[in-house]
Amino acid sequence: MAINKKILELKKRREQVLLGGGEQAIQKQNAMGKLTARERIMALLDKESFNEYDLFVEHDARDFDMEKKTLHGDGVIIGTGTIHGKPVCIFAQDFTVAGGSLGSMHARKITKIMDHSLKMRMPLIGINDSGGARIQEGVNSLAGYGEIFFRNTLASGVIPQISVILGPCAGGAVYSPALTDFVFVVDKISKMFITGPEVIKTVLGEEISMEELGGARVHAEITGNAHFFALSEDECFQQIKKLLTFLPWSNTEKSIDVPARAPKKSFKITSIVPEDARQPYDVRDVVRSIVDDSDFLEVQELWAANMVIGFGKINGGTVGFVCNQPLVLAGVLDVDSSDKAARFIRFCDAFNIPIVTLVDLPGYLPGVDQEHAGVIRHGAKILYSYSEATVPKITVIIRKAYGGGYIAMNSRHLRADFVFAWPSAEIAVMGPEGAANIIFKKEITTAADPEKMRKQKVEEYKEKFANPYVAAAKGYIDSVIEPAETRTMLIHAIDVSLRKDISMPRKKHGIPPF
Ligand code: HXC
Repeated sequence: MAINKKILELKKRREQVLLGGGEQAIQKQNAMGKLTARERIMALLDKESFNEYDLFVEHDARDFDMEKKTLHGDGVIIGTGTIHGKPVCIFAQDFTVAGGSLGSMHARKITKIMDHSLKMRMPLIGINDSGGARIQEGVNSLAGYGEIFFRNTLASGVIPQISVILGPCAGGAVYSPALTDFVFVVDKISKMFITGPEVIKTVLGEEISMEELGGARVHAEITGNAHFFALSEDECFQQIKKLLTFLPWSNTEKSIDVPARAPKKSFKITSIVPEDARQPYDVRDVVRSIVDDSDFLEVQELWAANMVIGFGKINGGTVGFVCNQPLVLAGVLDVDSSDKAARFIRFCDAFNIPIVTLVDLPGYLPGVDQEHAGVIRHGAKILYSYSEATVPKITVIIRKAYGGGYIAMNSRHLRADFVFAWPSAEIAVMGPEGAANIIFKKEITTAADPEKMRKQKVEEYKEKFANPYVAAAKGYIDSVIEPAETRTMLIHAIDVSLRKDISMPRKKHGIPPF
């Protein structure tokens, strides 16, 4: 009887806490088009797999009458569950409880689940919906953020870390997502900024809405802070589940192997690249004609679209793709596309995912804007990332590979394991037009018909250098292959690279051009 009473008391306590900030706050949350923290966890995890920790944690603040306030769970829910039947760690900030603001106990719950995910080697998913540092708790809140950032850094490259922004994420709070591997945002719901509209108005006298300042589209299209953009919370959860089909659970595991499937017949690799080398095409069609079931998960699709990155399976195993996109700016390398590729290469390398690079670019983007934005420093990141990556690295040169672009896009010289080129490949110091104008300047300017002479010299240059055979003669590429042979060659290259074992010079760490 006595124990039954205790069980009843437990049930009652649970019921109270499960209500978070109460019915009214929940209604306000739903009215904003947002699910509650608990609903989000249930929507993301496998059915009935959630095990909650620290349900009864309470805040310990004593200033500003805080001792009179009960904050259920201290505004954050933590625990473990499964996705695709495999365990993950999760936390979700509960905006209905003091705006999901982060006090010291709130932070301690988050760091507890972070420690657990690192120790047990499983992915960490953090759902952010918070007014930031709990103002009443002062420096204790700041300390809490510091503890989180430190753990994000420790876990980096060991377990995948996923951040989901489903509400405000303000002030220094944005730095935890920025330290994680993938950031998901939802249209009209996600807001990320360091200094909010109020501060901007006070300091700069400028009026701007939260949406314009740091809404989901801003981060998916302009800043590159977000990796996946969704129109609804439900779509966002589907995207997370999809991403996890490609990722290993830690850096000592391989990603899940699934049965191999052929690409869909509708993607014909032989008819994607136009005859005329000046015509663009969508490199994602080439990827889809190579990967299993033509299923390609693009990362950062809306930002720096001249570079395409993402995951696919080849013969059942995960591969990371890094591709120039001729559809946008002819696929040039610039500040943003270099950053985009470099970070993705490092992710794949940290998590043992082979990298396939598809090359078609005229080089680095010229211009004062790019030079002053630091294209030297940013462009160097891609060289650094490819050079230090020790996973299998395979390159396919589709068309143009000019100048610095040829070297940067995982050339043999940065230690590509395999370099293949299609017969349409043009490997040269620069494009034929530019090259002919420089090296045949005298002949062109002194000719009776300079334009005719220029065309003739361009053709001469093309004949000699704009092909894959000069590089093939030097062994800089391993094989000139027909487009239709690409998938077979990649399967072969990945198969023979399974036992790849190389080591880098001993050092504490390198100094990448951050
Ligand atoms: C304590 C907070 C809070 C905070 C919100 N609340 N933010 N409590 N500390 N930082 C509380 C509100 O008092 C309110 O409590 C409840 O949460 C809901 O907030 P509302 O303002 O009513 O909601 P809404 O209108 O939707 O506006 C949400 C908001 C706004 C845009 C996030 O609350 C806001 O601007 N908050 C402050 C944001 C901020 O400047 N944070 C500090 C950033 S500095 P009641 O009791 O009324 O329900 C920072 C430093 C970290 O984070 C540095 C780390 C390195």
